[in-house]
Amino acid sequence: MTDTNYEQFSVAVVGGGPAGLFAARELAQAGAQVALLNRDIKAGGLAEYGIYPNKLKMKDGLRKQFRQTLDIPNLHYFGNLSIGLDHEISLPELQSLGFDAVVVTVGAQGTKWLGLPGEDLKGVYHAKDLVYHYNNLPPYSERKFDIGKRVILVGVGNVMLDIAHWTIRDLKVNEVIAIARRGPADVKFSKKEMAIVARNLDLTDLEAEFARTDAAMRGVGQDVDAAKAFIFSALNGAQEPVSQTKFSFEFLVSPKRLVGDAQGRVRAVEVEDTTLVARPEGGSRDVGLGTTRELEADTVVFCIGDRVDESLGLPLDKWGDFAKNPTPHFGVDGISYEAFNPELQQAVEGVFLAGWAREASSGLVGAARKDGTNAAKAVLSYLDAAQPKNAEAIAALNSKIAMIDKPIVRVADLKKLEAVEVAHAAELNVPEFKYASNDEMLAAMGLTKVREAS
Ligand SMILES: Cc1cc2nc3c(=O)[nH]c(=O)nc-3n(C[C@H](O)[C@H](O)[C@H](O)COP(=O)(O)OP(=O)(O)OC[C@H]3O[C@@H](n4cnc5c(N)ncnc54)[C@H](O)[C@@H]3O)c2cc1C
Ligand SMILES: NC(=O)c1ccc[n+]([C@@H]2O[C@H](COP(=O)([O-])OP(=O)(O)OC[C@H]3O[C@@H](n4cnc5c(N)ncnc54)[C@H](OP(=O)(O)O)[C@@H]3O)[C@@H](O)[C@H]2O)c1
Repeated sequence: MTDTNYEQFSVAVVGGGPAGLFAARELAQAGAQVALLNRDIKAGGLAEYGIYPNKLKMKDGLRKQFRQTLDIPNLHYFGNLSIGLDHEISLPELQSLGFDAVVVTVGAQGTKWLGLPGEDLKGVYHAKDLVYHYNNLPPYSERKFDIGKRVILVGVGNVMLDIAHWTIRDLKVNEVIAIARRGPADVKFSKKEMAIVARNLDLTDLEAEFARTDAAMRGVGQDVDAAKAFIFSALNGAQEPVSQTKFSFEFLVSPKRLVGDAQGRVRAVEVEDTTLVARPEGGSRDVGLGTTRELEADTVVFCIGDRVDESLGLPLDKWGDFAKNPTPHFGVDGISYEAFNPELQQAVEGVFLAGWAREASSGLVGAARKDGTNAAKAVLSYLDAAQPKNAEAIAALNSKIAMIDKPIVRVADLKKLEAVEVAHAAELNVPEFKYASNDEMLAAMGLTKVREAS
């Protein structure tokens, strides 16, 4: 219990995804004035623009909670506003407006490439861009992605299954092959997600993969039968297939190079065969065997997770995440939420991290919610020992954004947009309608006119 009057403090939360929304809610409910600054026009982050479009019940449930959060009177939403180096406002500028603390919850917007030759060939994509594209997030929604007929997906997590879902059930390509550097016991997807595309699996092929990888798995003490039971169990209650797409796995291969054709389009992935070795701390890791082969594909999608966006200007740790204070002053449940400068060996004063900005590509919405809430608790502990800087920080922010040459979106605007989109969905008799460009959204809110076609 604390007797701090949080009403005298102002906190900026950067990023309006689940972590930011729940951090902002916790801080606002404690009484602080909270500015929630979001790159996208709409709030929700990957809950709006990552979760598969047809999971409408889940998305609507989350949107309801987000709407309630945005309606808190001392929580001020600023959408269509990017924070960072070379963005509309930098983190130091934000602090200089008088915010007592800043919580960075911008997710993991950086692209994690492997640095392989040929990654720039036509037909080679990163899952994040495709996910944003089919979820209608500008500007990805407006970009053309040329998906061919034989698609290799690198990685075997839930994002791989979302891309498999899209390519198998929506695009109905001929063949999808998921490749993994480790074996069938190390898949990271859930049975529920697998059930969406399990009936497209080539079961003879899958059996053969289990036979091929059996010795490597047993060599590190993995339970082959359990791994097999897990993947095959997704067939129980699996969705009816809607395409002839053949879906298969190629385990124990690590991509080395993308091979192009004469037109500069990918035609194959050169992979190195791998085997498994046990890690001293438990689990397995892959080691290359030196033998290589080509797997044909006209499209390759890396589904290997994302990295944080360095343009925020925060120091990184050796794993490429934003660095956290190893000896936190305000840790919660043993977790450090404090941004840290490893070079100076000191905390970045007043800056906290939460959600995928604290740990890239880690966990579900529920985890981001918990992380945002706990980061807010860390901030409140920090404020217990702080003196308020500027009671007018929100007003200073308003003055600052008045000078920015683009419309900044407020909660009342979002409500207008939602009403227009709902009306459009009803007219078109579809469950959901989302504008695919910022211009259209801004026009629907009355903030600009749709740009004349040139
Ligand atoms: C393809 C995919 C599907 C998923 N499906 C599910 C699912 O079905 N169920 C589930 O529970 N979880 C799912 N997840 C996980 C879930 O989406 C994440 O756990 C969660 O969204 C992370 O929340 P976050 O707030 O940390 O980051 P994000 O959701 O990424 O939010 C980041 C926010 O920060 C904003 N931002 C970025 N840069 C800036 C900047 N410079 N300035 C200001 N604002 C900025 C963005 O606009 C965004 O609003 C999925 C993830 C992916 C990638
Ligand atoms: N429907 C849902 O609930 C849903 C949907 C999408 C995402 N999510 C969540 O979002 C988070 C991120 O998902 P994700 O699928 O992006 O990540 P993930 O679960 O960590 O899976 C990443 C995959 O990429 C592989 N990989 C990583 N680095 C690699 C490299 N250098 N070379 C080769 N392969 C590499 C990993 O293999 P190794 O294991 O060998 O590292 C793993 O198979 C997860 O928490 C996930 O559950 C949930």
